[in-house]
Amino acid sequence: MKKSRRNFIKKTLLGTTSAAAGILSPNFMIGKDILGANDRINCAIAGVRSRGKALAAAIHLQKNTKVLYSCDVDEVIIEEHNMWSKKNIGYLPKVEKDFRKLLEKKDLDVIFIATPEHWHTPMTILAMQAGKHVYIEKPCSHNAHENTLLVAAQKKYGLKVQMGNQQRSAVTSINAINDIRNGIIGEVYKGEAYYSNNRGSIGIGKKVAIPKTLDWELWQGPAPRKAYKDNIHPYNWHWFRNWGTGEIHNNGTHEIDICRWALDIDLPDSVSSVGGKYTYQDDWEFADNQQVTYKYPKEKFITWTGHSRGLIKPERPGRGVTIYGSKGSIQLDRNFYKLYDLGGNLVKSELEGEMSQTTDTRGQGQLDVNHVGNLLNAIRKDESLNAEIKDASISTMLCHLANMSQDAREELQIDQQTGKVKNNKMIMKNWNREYAEGWEPKV
Ligand SMILES: NC(=O)c1ccc[n+]([C@@H]2O[C@H](COP(=O)([O-])OP(=O)(O)OC[C@H]3O[C@@H](n4cnc5c(N)ncnc54)[C@H](O)[C@@H]3O)[C@@H](O)[C@H]2O)c1
Repeated sequence: MKKSRRNFIKKTLLGTTSAAAGILSPNFMIGKDILGANDRINCAIAGVRSRGKALAAAIHLQKNTKVLYSCDVDEVIIEEHNMWSKKNIGYLPKVEKDFRKLLEKKDLDVIFIATPEHWHTPMTILAMQAGKHVYIEKPCSHNAHENTLLVAAQKKYGLKVQMGNQQRSAVTSINAINDIRNGIIGEVYKGEAYYSNNRGSIGIGKKVAIPKTLDWELWQGPAPRKAYKDNIHPYNWHWFRNWGTGEIHNNGTHEIDICRWALDIDLPDSVSSVGGKYTYQDDWEFADNQQVTYKYPKEKFITWTGHSRGLIKPERPGRGVTIYGSKGSIQLDRNFYKLYDLGGNLVKSELEGEMSQTTDTRGQGQLDVNHVGNLLNAIRKDESLNAEIKDASISTMLCHLANMSQDAREELQIDQQTGKVKNNKMIMKNWNREYAEGWEPKV
């Protein structure tokens, strides 16, 4: 979807400055209730191990906002998170183990979802059906079909849904995109996204007894049932198809999204992925090194280089994007904006006021504060979201398409209106996933 420049500026300015200032309007809608300027926005966080903490810290820094509930299916993690909460936010949120209990809470306005990815869309839709606004961690969906459901549900229920690609709320990135729209690097034609890490082997999982402190049934929720093994929970579910979506979704969602934003483009004409699993013989089910090219009309393109296990080059650790134009290039990451001329000379450089983590597993930092603030301002004042689901889901779709091309080992031709694949019937047959009985999301 193309945004007019006027809307773009309105959106970005409101998204950052008023979030930072914490300005409240006299009356605003939350779900069905009208809240006054002094009313608090109450939040719940589902999934409080790693990313959940970054979100709790960001919510804590907002005015008149509280983490009222923590929700997790693992009692050990809840216990540890309670201790973390006391120390870091100074109070203990109430605890619910079963996400569905949150849906009944009359005092709850927003649900933040930081669970594994098979839960993201089903939880978001259930939350909206219960009248709650949602902050949904990236990627917003586990499969392509869920994107369509999410967008339809948001349209139907009219609630705010922000995806957790927080660099959309980085002041330096917003400035860079404004400069790009004003022609600072001429005609933009290429977005180069990369991520570089040295993740280890996840081994071959052994079937072991389910810990008594973990509700494995509820952890699995919408996903078809699998035996519990010792290398899935926490975190390594990312690398299993039943629950996770691989590195391109885990980190590419951020960088590919920034390229798409900078080039002002949505779905591509074609997607091709090469790569594979090169490093360890283990349970990892995705490519661990992947190179993707998205081709767009007018000879624009985006590339993704994902080195999940084995750094790209010693001088290129971490993550970032470079945007190329006819008059120069721009480097962006979560914390800076650098402008170069065609000869590679640095012309301008901006640093984000407060730094955010770029390579740890939590991603905590000022961008979360901005991004959460933007959602709260959208709820309070109907400000535009910096990563509203209709737009953000397109970036997630790009990652799904890349994984599909990687699996099919062929270039995919894409219908630019629907994102559907035109030249591979098998992919379209597997557009959706199987769900555990009773859990299929419906709008
Ligand atoms: N935006 C970012 O920068 C960023 C950074 C890190 C992670 N993430 C995203 O956040 C999500 C969580 O990642 P993580 O690294 O924290 O994973 P994690 O495995 O460390 O934590 C997930 C938590 O969710 C809990 N959980 C599982 N099912 C649940 C349910 N039904 N109800 C409540 N809790 C449940 C687990 O017990 C676990 O504590 C992922 O989607 C990831 O991609 C985003």
